[in-house]
Amino acid sequence: MQHIVVVQQSLHLDGKIYLSGAKNATLVSMASLLLVSGKSILRNVPDLEDVHCMAEVLTSLGAQVYFDTKNNYLEVDTTHVQGTTVSAHMMKKIRASILVLGPLLARFGKATLAFPGGDAIGKRPIDFHLVNFEKMGANIVSEGSTIHAFAPQLHPGKFIFDYPSVGATENILMAALCVQGTSYIINASLEPEVLDLIALLKKMGAAITIQAPGMIIIQGGNPLHAADHTVMYDRLEAGTYLLAAAITGGRIEIPNADASIKDIFLAKLAHMGHEVIAGAQKGIYLKANPIMRGVSIRTEPYPGFPTDLQAMMMAVQSLAQGESIVHETVYDNRFLHVPELLRMGASIVVQGNKAFIQGVSSLQGTLVQGGDIRGAMALVLAGLAAQGTTQIQGAEHLKRGYENFEEKMQSIGAHIILKTA
Ligand code: UD1
Repeated sequence: MQHIVVVQQSLHLDGKIYLSGAKNATLVSMASLLLVSGKSILRNVPDLEDVHCMAEVLTSLGAQVYFDTKNNYLEVDTTHVQGTTVSAHMMKKIRASILVLGPLLARFGKATLAFPGGDAIGKRPIDFHLVNFEKMGANIVSEGSTIHAFAPQLHPGKFIFDYPSVGATENILMAALCVQGTSYIINASLEPEVLDLIALLKKMGAAITIQAPGMIIIQGGNPLHAADHTVMYDRLEAGTYLLAAAITGGRIEIPNADASIKDIFLAKLAHMGHEVIAGAQKGIYLKANPIMRGVSIRTEPYPGFPTDLQAMMMAVQSLAQGESIVHETVYDNRFLHVPELLRMGASIVVQGNKAFIQGVSSLQGTLVQGGDIRGAMALVLAGLAAQGTTQIQGAEHLKRGYENFEEKMQSIGAHIILKTA
Protein backbone atom coordinates (compact mmCIF):
# COMPACT_ATOMS: atom_id res chain seq x y z
CA MET A 1 0.00 0.00 0.00
CA GLN A 2 1.34 3.43 -0.98
CA HIS A 3 1.37 6.16 1.63
CA ILE A 4 1.85 9.87 1.40
CA VAL A 5 2.69 12.19 4.28
CA VAL A 6 1.40 15.74 4.16
CA VAL A 7 3.36 18.15 6.34
CA GLN A 8 2.56 21.82 6.93
CA GLN A 9 5.17 24.21 8.25
CA SER A 10 5.23 23.67 12.02
CA LEU A 11 7.69 25.96 13.72
CA HIS A 12 8.69 25.73 17.39
CA LEU A 13 7.74 22.11 18.14
CA ASP A 14 7.51 21.87 21.89
CA GLY A 15 6.92 18.95 24.20
CA LYS A 16 7.87 15.54 25.44
CA ILE A 17 8.23 12.32 23.45
CA TYR A 18 8.80 8.81 24.79
CA LEU A 19 10.82 6.47 22.60
CA SER A 20 9.72 3.07 21.35
CA GLY A 21 11.88 -0.04 21.30
CA ALA A 22 14.72 -0.13 18.79
CA LYS A 23 13.82 -1.63 15.40
CA ASN A 24 17.26 -3.01 14.63
CA ALA A 25 17.73 -4.54 18.09
CA THR A 26 14.26 -6.10 17.86
CA LEU A 27 14.82 -7.70 14.46
CA VAL A 28 18.04 -9.45 15.43
CA SER A 29 16.61 -10.46 18.82
CA MET A 30 13.71 -12.13 17.03
CA ALA A 31 16.07 -14.02 14.70
CA SER A 32 18.17 -15.15 17.66
CA LEU A 33 15.18 -16.93 19.22
CA LEU A 34 15.62 -19.60 16.53
CA LEU A 35 18.74 -20.73 18.43
CA VAL A 36 16.60 -22.27 21.18
CA SER A 37 13.59 -24.51 21.53
CA GLY A 38 10.88 -23.04 23.76
CA LYS A 39 8.81 -19.94 24.39
CA SER A 40 10.73 -16.68 24.64
CA ILE A 41 9.36 -13.25 25.41
CA LEU A 42 10.49 -9.91 24.00
CA ARG A 43 9.17 -6.72 25.57
CA ASN A 44 9.24 -3.12 24.33
CA VAL A 45 8.85 -4.44 20.76
CA PRO A 46 7.79 -1.64 18.38
CA ASP A 47 4.73 -2.15 16.19
CA LEU A 48 6.49 -1.69 12.84
CA GLU A 49 6.13 -3.20 9.37
CA ASP A 50 9.65 -4.66 9.54
CA VAL A 51 8.84 -6.38 12.84
CA HIS A 52 5.71 -7.92 11.30
CA CYS A 53 7.84 -9.09 8.33
CA MET A 54 10.32 -10.79 10.69
CA ALA A 55 7.39 -12.37 12.55
CA GLU A 56 6.22 -13.77 9.18
CA VAL A 57 9.68 -15.21 8.54
CA LEU A 58 9.68 -16.96 11.94
CA THR A 59 6.13 -18.23 11.42
CA SER A 60 7.05 -19.61 8.00
CA LEU A 61 9.78 -21.66 9.71
CA GLY A 62 7.28 -23.18 12.15
CA ALA A 63 7.48 -20.78 15.11
CA GLN A 64 4.31 -19.70 16.88
CA VAL A 65 4.31 -15.94 17.19
CA TYR A 66 1.95 -13.86 19.30
CA PHE A 67 2.37 -10.09 19.04
CA ASP A 68 0.34 -7.90 21.39
CA THR A 69 1.03 -4.66 19.56
CA LYS A 70 -0.83 -2.51 22.12
CA ASN A 71 1.50 -3.65 24.87
CA ASN A 72 4.58 -4.09 22.67
CA TYR A 73 4.78 -7.67 23.89
CA LEU A 74 6.00 -10.48 21.66
CA GLU A 75 6.00 -14.19 22.42
CA VAL A 76 7.82 -16.58 20.13
CA ASP A 77 7.57 -20.32 20.65
CA THR A 78 10.23 -22.07 18.61
CA THR A 79 9.54 -25.59 19.94
CA HIS A 80 8.11 -26.83 16.65
CA VAL A 81 10.45 -25.04 14.26
CA GLN A 82 11.55 -27.49 11.61
CA GLY A 83 11.71 -25.34 8.49
CA THR A 84 15.06 -24.19 7.17
CA THR A 85 13.90 -22.43 4.00
CA VAL A 86 12.78 -18.81 3.76
CA SER A 87 11.00 -17.76 0.56
CA ALA A 88 12.61 -15.21 -1.74
CA HIS A 89 9.47 -13.10 -1.35
CA MET A 90 10.02 -12.76 2.41
CA MET A 91 13.78 -12.36 2.11
CA LYS A 92 13.29 -9.41 -0.24
CA LYS A 93 11.06 -7.52 2.19
CA ILE A 94 13.68 -6.85 4.86
CA ARG A 95 17.45 -6.96 4.91
CA ALA A 96 17.45 -8.29 8.48
CA SER A 97 15.98 -11.56 7.19
CA ILE A 98 19.59 -12.66 6.53
CA LEU A 99 20.01 -12.78 10.32
CA VAL A 100 18.16 -16.11 10.49
CA LEU A 101 21.03 -17.77 8.60
CA GLY A 102 23.36 -18.05 11.62
CA PRO A 103 20.71 -19.47 13.99
CA LEU A 104 19.38 -21.93 11.37
CA LEU A 105 22.86 -23.21 10.49
CA ALA A 106 23.74 -23.55 14.15
CA ARG A 107 20.54 -25.35 15.17
CA PHE A 108 19.70 -27.40 12.06
CA GLY A 109 22.94 -27.54 10.07
CA LYS A 110 21.33 -26.18 6.92
CA ALA A 111 19.40 -23.26 5.46
CA THR A 112 18.10 -22.16 2.08
CA LEU A 113 17.55 -18.44 1.71
CA ALA A 114 17.60 -15.76 -0.97
CA PHE A 115 19.81 -12.69 -1.00
CA PRO A 116 18.02 -10.16 1.23
CA GLY A 117 16.33 -6.94 0.13
CA GLY A 118 16.06 -3.74 2.13
CA ASP A 119 16.60 -0.05 1.63
CA ALA A 120 18.14 1.20 -1.61
CA ILE A 121 21.09 2.96 0.00
CA GLY A 122 23.94 1.51 -1.97
CA LYS A 123 25.53 -1.90 -2.55
CA ARG A 124 24.80 -4.09 0.42
CA PRO A 125 26.72 -7.33 -0.07
CA ILE A 126 26.67 -10.15 2.49
CA ASP A 127 30.14 -11.48 1.68
CA PHE A 128 31.43 -11.04 5.27
CA HIS A 129 28.59 -13.26 6.48
CA LEU A 130 29.13 -15.98 3.87
CA VAL A 131 32.95 -16.03 3.95
CA ASN A 132 32.96 -16.42 7.71
CA PHE A 133 30.29 -19.15 7.72
CA GLU A 134 32.54 -20.97 5.25
CA LYS A 135 35.47 -20.42 7.59
CA MET A 136 33.35 -22.00 10.29
CA GLY A 137 33.00 -25.08 8.09
CA ALA A 138 29.75 -24.39 6.24
CA ASN A 139 29.38 -25.22 2.59
CA ILE A 140 27.69 -22.30 0.84
CA VAL A 141 26.40 -22.57 -2.72
CA SER A 142 24.75 -19.63 -4.49
CA GLU A 143 22.36 -20.47 -7.32
CA GLY A 144 21.05 -17.29 -8.92
CA SER A 145 19.48 -15.39 -6.05
CA THR A 146 19.25 -18.48 -3.82
CA ILE A 147 21.79 -19.39 -1.15
CA HIS A 148 22.08 -23.01 -0.01
CA ALA A 149 24.10 -23.44 3.19
CA PHE A 150 25.00 -26.81 4.72
CA ALA A 151 26.92 -27.27 7.92
CA PRO A 152 26.90 -30.83 9.24
CA GLN A 153 29.63 -29.75 11.66
CA LEU A 154 30.73 -26.21 12.47
CA HIS A 155 34.01 -25.45 14.18
CA PRO A 156 35.26 -22.52 16.23
CA GLY A 157 37.78 -20.06 14.87
CA LYS A 158 39.08 -16.51 14.55
CA PHE A 159 36.70 -14.56 12.35
CA ILE A 160 38.36 -11.39 11.16
CA PHE A 161 36.21 -8.73 9.51
CA ASP A 162 37.58 -6.19 7.01
CA TYR A 163 34.92 -3.83 8.35
CA PRO A 164 32.88 -3.95 11.58
CA SER A 165 29.64 -5.00 9.88
CA VAL A 166 26.67 -5.02 12.26
CA GLY A 167 24.81 -7.85 10.56
CA ALA A 168 27.86 -10.07 9.96
CA THR A 169 28.91 -9.66 13.61
CA GLU A 170 25.42 -10.66 14.77
CA ASN A 171 25.14 -13.62 12.40
CA ILE A 172 28.57 -15.10 13.14
CA LEU A 173 28.16 -14.48 16.87
CA MET A 174 24.85 -16.37 16.96
CA ALA A 175 26.21 -19.33 15.00
CA ALA A 176 29.42 -19.52 17.06
CA LEU A 177 27.39 -19.96 20.26
CA CYS A 178 26.39 -23.46 19.20
CA VAL A 179 29.92 -24.52 18.27
CA GLN A 180 31.97 -26.27 20.95
CA GLY A 181 35.12 -24.25 21.74
CA THR A 182 36.27 -20.64 21.76
CA SER A 183 35.62 -18.34 18.82
CA TYR A 184 36.83 -14.78 18.32
CA ILE A 185 35.26 -12.07 16.19
CA ILE A 186 37.92 -9.50 15.44
CA ASN A 187 37.04 -6.00 14.26
CA ALA A 188 33.51 -6.79 15.41
CA SER A 189 30.74 -4.23 15.43
CA LEU A 190 30.02 -3.06 18.96
CA GLU A 191 26.99 -0.91 18.13
CA PRO A 192 24.57 -0.60 21.07
CA GLU A 193 22.14 -2.92 19.22
CA VAL A 194 24.84 -5.63 19.11
CA LEU A 195 25.36 -5.19 22.85
CA ASP A 196 21.60 -5.49 23.38
CA LEU A 197 21.67 -8.77 21.44
CA ILE A 198 24.55 -9.97 23.60
CA ALA A 199 22.53 -9.15 26.73
CA LEU A 200 19.69 -11.33 25.41
CA LEU A 201 22.04 -14.17 24.39
CA LYS A 202 23.56 -14.16 27.88
CA LYS A 203 20.05 -14.55 29.33
CA MET A 204 19.75 -17.62 27.07
CA GLY A 205 22.86 -19.05 28.73
CA ALA A 206 25.59 -17.89 26.32
CA ALA A 207 29.14 -17.15 27.47
CA ILE A 208 30.31 -14.04 25.64
CA THR A 209 32.94 -11.48 26.57
CA ILE A 210 33.89 -8.24 24.88
CA GLN A 211 37.47 -7.15 24.74
CA ALA A 212 38.58 -3.72 23.54
CA PRO A 213 39.13 -2.79 20.80
CA GLY A 214 36.40 -4.53 18.86
CA MET A 215 36.81 -8.18 19.83
CA ILE A 216 34.01 -10.52 20.87
CA ILE A 217 35.02 -13.81 22.49
CA ILE A 218 32.48 -16.60 22.42
CA GLN A 219 32.76 -19.70 24.56
CA GLY A 220 30.53 -21.92 22.44
CA GLY A 221 28.64 -25.06 23.30
CA ASN A 222 26.71 -23.93 26.39
CA PRO A 223 23.15 -25.27 26.35
CA LEU A 224 20.86 -22.38 25.40
CA HIS A 225 17.30 -21.90 26.59
CA ALA A 226 14.35 -19.58 26.00
CA ALA A 227 14.60 -16.13 27.59
CA ASP A 228 12.68 -13.00 28.52
CA HIS A 229 14.24 -9.74 27.33
CA THR A 230 13.30 -6.07 27.16
CA VAL A 231 14.59 -4.51 23.96
CA MET A 232 16.58 -1.26 24.26
CA TYR A 233 15.02 2.08 23.35
CA ASP A 234 15.54 3.35 19.83
CA ARG A 235 18.49 5.73 19.72
CA LEU A 236 17.78 6.55 16.06
CA GLU A 237 14.24 7.56 16.92
CA ALA A 238 15.72 9.76 19.68
CA GLY A 239 18.04 11.39 17.14
CA THR A 240 15.12 11.95 14.77
CA TYR A 241 12.98 13.83 17.29
CA LEU A 242 15.92 15.88 18.55
CA LEU A 243 16.55 16.94 14.96
CA ALA A 244 12.84 17.72 14.51
CA ALA A 245 13.06 20.15 17.44
CA ALA A 246 16.33 21.58 16.11
CA ILE A 247 15.05 22.27 12.59
CA THR A 248 11.86 23.97 13.84
CA GLY A 249 13.55 26.14 16.46
CA GLY A 250 11.69 24.23 19.14
CA ARG A 251 12.21 22.39 22.40
CA ILE A 252 11.99 18.72 23.20
CA GLU A 253 12.42 16.43 26.13
CA ILE A 254 12.95 12.68 25.66
CA PRO A 255 12.85 11.24 29.17
CA ASN A 256 13.68 7.63 28.26
CA ALA A 257 16.57 8.30 25.84
CA ASP A 258 19.97 6.93 26.78
CA ALA A 259 22.31 9.91 26.39
CA SER A 260 25.50 7.94 26.94
CA ILE A 261 25.22 6.27 23.54
CA LYS A 262 24.77 9.47 21.60
CA ASP A 263 27.87 11.45 22.52
CA ILE A 264 29.10 12.49 19.05
CA PHE A 265 25.62 13.19 17.79
CA LEU A 266 24.80 15.38 20.80
CA ALA A 267 28.16 17.14 20.53
CA LYS A 268 27.38 18.04 16.90
CA LEU A 269 23.98 19.46 17.91
CA ALA A 270 25.66 21.53 20.62
CA HIS A 271 28.24 22.70 18.08
CA MET A 272 25.40 24.03 15.92
CA GLY A 273 24.42 26.23 18.87
CA HIS A 274 21.57 24.18 20.33
CA GLU A 275 21.31 23.81 24.07
CA VAL A 276 21.57 20.11 24.85
CA ILE A 277 21.21 18.71 28.36
CA ALA A 278 21.78 15.02 28.89
CA GLY A 279 20.82 13.22 32.09
CA ALA A 280 23.49 11.17 33.81
CA GLN A 281 21.56 7.96 33.13
CA LYS A 282 18.49 8.74 31.09
CA GLY A 283 16.87 11.72 29.45
CA ILE A 284 17.85 14.26 26.81
CA TYR A 285 16.55 17.82 26.54
CA LEU A 286 17.17 20.12 23.58
CA LYS A 287 16.33 23.79 23.18
CA ALA A 288 17.04 24.88 19.64
CA ASN A 289 19.09 27.87 18.62
CA PRO A 290 17.01 29.38 15.79
CA ILE A 291 20.21 30.72 14.20
CA MET A 292 22.08 27.45 13.75
CA ARG A 293 25.73 27.25 12.74
CA GLY A 294 26.81 24.79 10.06
CA VAL A 295 28.64 21.72 11.24
CA SER A 296 30.48 18.92 9.44
CA ILE A 297 29.96 15.23 10.10
CA ARG A 298 31.56 11.97 9.03
CA THR A 299 29.50 8.82 9.38
CA GLU A 300 31.31 5.92 10.99
CA PRO A 301 30.64 2.73 12.93
CA TYR A 302 29.73 3.30 16.58
CA PRO A 303 30.74 5.42 18.44
CA GLY A 304 31.08 7.61 15.35
CA PHE A 305 28.22 9.60 13.86
CA PRO A 306 25.50 7.07 12.87
CA THR A 307 24.86 6.74 9.15
CA ASP A 308 21.17 6.24 9.96
CA LEU A 309 20.96 9.87 11.17
CA GLN A 310 22.88 11.34 8.25
CA ALA A 311 19.95 12.15 5.95
CA MET A 312 18.00 13.87 8.74
CA MET A 313 21.06 15.79 9.86
CA MET A 314 21.47 17.00 6.28
CA ALA A 315 17.94 18.42 6.30
CA VAL A 316 18.90 20.43 9.39
CA GLN A 317 22.27 21.46 7.95
CA SER A 318 20.42 22.82 4.90
CA LEU A 319 19.07 25.59 7.12
CA ALA A 320 22.24 26.20 9.17
CA GLN A 321 24.41 29.26 8.53
CA GLY A 322 27.54 28.75 6.45
CA GLU A 323 28.93 25.53 5.01
CA SER A 324 28.40 22.05 6.38
CA ILE A 325 30.02 18.91 4.98
CA VAL A 326 28.68 15.38 5.20
CA HIS A 327 31.17 12.61 4.58
CA GLU A 328 29.28 9.32 4.24
CA THR A 329 31.78 6.51 4.80
CA VAL A 330 29.47 3.59 5.63
CA TYR A 331 27.43 3.32 2.41
CA ASP A 332 28.37 4.16 -1.15
CA ASN A 333 25.02 5.64 -2.23
CA ARG A 334 23.22 7.15 0.70
CA PHE A 335 22.38 10.51 -0.83
CA LEU A 336 18.96 9.67 -2.33
CA HIS A 337 17.45 12.49 -0.28
CA VAL A 338 19.72 15.14 -1.85
CA PRO A 339 17.76 15.72 -5.11
CA GLU A 340 14.57 15.98 -3.05
CA LEU A 341 16.09 18.53 -0.63
CA LEU A 342 17.30 20.47 -3.68
CA ARG A 343 13.70 20.57 -4.95
CA MET A 344 12.78 22.19 -1.64
CA GLY A 345 15.38 24.91 -2.14
CA ALA A 346 18.43 23.48 -0.36
CA SER A 347 21.90 24.17 -1.73
CA ILE A 348 23.89 20.92 -1.80
CA VAL A 349 26.67 19.69 -4.08
CA VAL A 350 27.62 16.02 -4.00
CA GLN A 351 31.13 14.92 -4.90
CA GLY A 352 31.64 11.18 -4.48
CA ASN A 353 30.71 10.27 -0.93
CA LYS A 354 30.81 13.87 0.30
CA ALA A 355 27.99 16.41 0.28
CA PHE A 356 28.77 20.13 0.58
CA ILE A 357 25.84 22.04 2.00
CA GLN A 358 25.53 25.82 1.89
CA GLY A 359 22.91 26.89 4.40
CA VAL A 360 19.87 28.70 2.94
CA SER A 361 17.49 30.99 4.81
CA SER A 362 14.36 28.98 3.98
CA LEU A 363 13.02 25.84 2.31
CA GLN A 364 9.79 25.62 0.32
CA GLY A 365 7.25 22.83 0.54
CA THR A 366 6.63 20.76 -2.60
CA LEU A 367 6.02 17.18 -3.74
CA VAL A 368 9.02 14.96 -2.94
CA GLN A 369 9.87 11.26 -2.95
CA GLY A 370 11.25 9.35 0.02
CA GLY A 371 13.39 6.40 -1.05
CA ASP A 372 14.22 4.74 2.28
CA ILE A 373 13.25 4.98 5.96
CA ARG A 374 15.73 7.65 7.01
CA GLY A 375 15.62 9.56 3.71
CA ALA A 376 11.83 9.80 3.91
CA MET A 377 12.09 11.08 7.51
CA ALA A 378 14.67 13.68 6.41
CA LEU A 379 12.02 15.05 4.05
CA VAL A 380 9.44 15.11 6.85
CA LEU A 381 11.85 17.17 8.98
CA ALA A 382 12.56 19.50 6.05
CA GLY A 383 8.78 19.80 5.55
CA LEU A 384 8.25 20.85 9.17
CA ALA A 385 10.54 23.82 8.62
CA ALA A 386 9.63 24.58 4.99
CA GLN A 387 7.19 27.29 3.98
CA GLY A 388 3.81 25.95 2.87
CA THR A 389 2.95 22.28 2.39
CA THR A 390 5.28 19.37 1.68
CA GLN A 391 3.93 16.08 0.37
CA ILE A 392 6.22 13.11 0.79
CA GLN A 393 5.59 10.09 -1.41
CA GLY A 394 7.09 6.74 -0.46
CA ALA A 395 6.03 7.37 3.11
CA GLU A 396 5.32 3.65 3.58
CA HIS A 397 9.03 3.46 4.45
CA LEU A 398 8.28 5.44 7.61
CA LYS A 399 5.92 2.78 8.91
CA ARG A 400 8.79 0.31 8.65
CA GLY A 401 10.91 2.24 11.11
CA TYR A 402 8.89 4.68 13.24
CA GLU A 403 6.14 3.57 15.60
CA ASN A 404 3.20 6.05 15.71
CA PHE A 405 5.33 8.83 14.29
CA GLU A 406 2.35 10.97 13.24
CA GLU A 407 0.80 10.86 16.73
CA LYS A 408 4.16 11.46 18.40
CA MET A 409 4.94 14.45 16.18
CA GLN A 410 1.39 15.84 16.42
CA SER A 411 1.69 15.69 20.23
CA ILE A 412 4.50 18.27 20.10
CA GLY A 413 2.74 20.53 17.61
CA ALA A 414 3.54 19.13 14.16
CA HIS A 415 0.94 19.47 11.42
CA ILE A 416 1.44 16.10 9.82
CA ILE A 417 -1.03 13.63 8.31
CA LEU A 418 -0.38 10.19 6.87
CA LYS A 419 -2.66 9.37 3.94
CA THR A 420 -3.10 6.25 1.89
CA ALA A 421 -2.48 7.16 -1.75
C1 UD1 B 1 22.74 -2.37 10.08
C2 UD1 B 1 21.45 -1.65 10.35
C3 UD1 B 1 21.34 -0.41 9.47
C4 UD1 B 1 22.56 0.48 9.59
C5 UD1 B 1 23.83 -0.34 9.39
C6 UD1 B 1 25.09 0.47 9.67
C7 UD1 B 1 20.01 -3.50 10.96
C8 UD1 B 1 18.81 -4.32 10.64
N1 UD1 B 1 20.35 -2.55 10.08
O1 UD1 B 1 22.67 -2.82 8.72
O2 UD1 B 1 20.17 0.32 9.87
O3 UD1 B 1 22.51 1.47 8.58
O4 UD1 B 1 23.84 -1.47 10.27
O5 UD1 B 1 25.06 1.00 10.95
O6 UD1 B 1 20.60 -3.67 12.02
N2 UD1 B 1 29.21 -4.81 4.13
C9 UD1 B 1 29.92 -5.56 3.23
N3 UD1 B 1 29.81 -6.91 3.28
C10 UD1 B 1 29.03 -7.54 4.20
C11 UD1 B 1 28.31 -6.77 5.12
C12 UD1 B 1 28.41 -5.39 5.07
O7 UD1 B 1 30.63 -5.02 2.39
O8 UD1 B 1 28.97 -8.78 4.21
C13 UD1 B 1 29.29 -3.34 4.08
C14 UD1 B 1 27.92 -2.73 3.69
O9 UD1 B 1 27.74 -2.74 2.30
C15 UD1 B 1 28.01 -1.36 4.28
C16 UD1 B 1 28.85 -1.58 5.54
O10 UD1 B 1 29.51 -2.82 5.37
O11 UD1 B 1 28.70 -0.51 3.39
C17 UD1 B 1 28.04 -1.62 6.81
O12 UD1 B 1 27.05 -2.62 6.70
P1 UD1 B 1 26.50 -3.40 7.97
O13 UD1 B 1 27.12 -2.87 9.20
O14 UD1 B 1 26.60 -4.86 7.69
O15 UD1 B 1 24.98 -2.99 7.96
P2 UD1 B 1 23.72 -3.91 8.18
O16 UD1 B 1 23.98 -4.90 9.24
O17 UD1 B 1 23.18 -4.35 6.88
